[in-house]
Amino acid sequence: MSVPARIAVLASGGGSNLQALIDRLNTGGSAAARVELVVGSRAGIGALERAERAGIPALALDARMMGADTFRDALAGALETHRIDLVVLAGWLQLVPAEVVARYHGRMVNVHPALLPAFGGKGMYGRRVHEAVIASGARVSGATVHLVDERYDEGAIVAQWPVPVLPGDTPEMLAARVLAVEHRILPLAVEALARGASIPIVGDAPVAFDLVAAPAPPDASLRRTMHVAGPALGTQA
Ligand code: GRF
Repeated sequence: MSVPARIAVLASGGGSNLQALIDRLNTGGSAAARVELVVGSRAGIGALERAERAGIPALALDARMMGADTFRDALAGALETHRIDLVVLAGWLQLVPAEVVARYHGRMVNVHPALLPAFGGKGMYGRRVHEAVIASGARVSGATVHLVDERYDEGAIVAQWPVPVLPGDTPEMLAARVLAVEHRILPLAVEALARGASIPIVGDAPVAFDLVAAPAPPDASLRRTMHVAGPALGTQA
């Protein structure tokens, strides 16, 4: 791994997570990692514009236009040319070719807008995730950073942070609340991995739930969550 670690970000959309990485790692002057390459899944997307504004090499690789083999070779070639150490999928909607996943085993992460392993897997992306969370009646969602392996959303969890689902939430309202947390935990997780942190990351950065310090919610918070009136949950404070 180079110092600072050389990061490639793969994005399909507006690139607000890419921007959070640039702000912390490149313009924020992190010694641990820098974004050195941005790959967009098609020309003209916001993520590529953000890369250009920041002076970061960027290219569009559209798998549907190029065909699977050309796409795989072009992606692998770009990562090699730019001597990339860590790959970050930040709103990347295409499948990453198995050869590239294998080459970056343990060095490729994805950010997912829910608390995996809940609300993940094939077809669970973007608005659909938040619709499913709201429809389930879950009171908590969140953001997850995880290692990428050959299966959708199933690699080891690197970092998670919870976000409340509030009464009356629309998918857009929940998405915005979760996205703000993605912007916080993704750069922290990438920086920690670049520094050689082990997984799951615990320690210097507020990246994961600290279940050791807080193994259970206090009675009062459960009562609020469940709208339980009165002393039904045992010991009172
Ligand atoms: C994020 O919610 C990410 O988790 C999801 O797509 C969204 C991307 O947003 N996969 P942006 O392109 O980083 O703004």
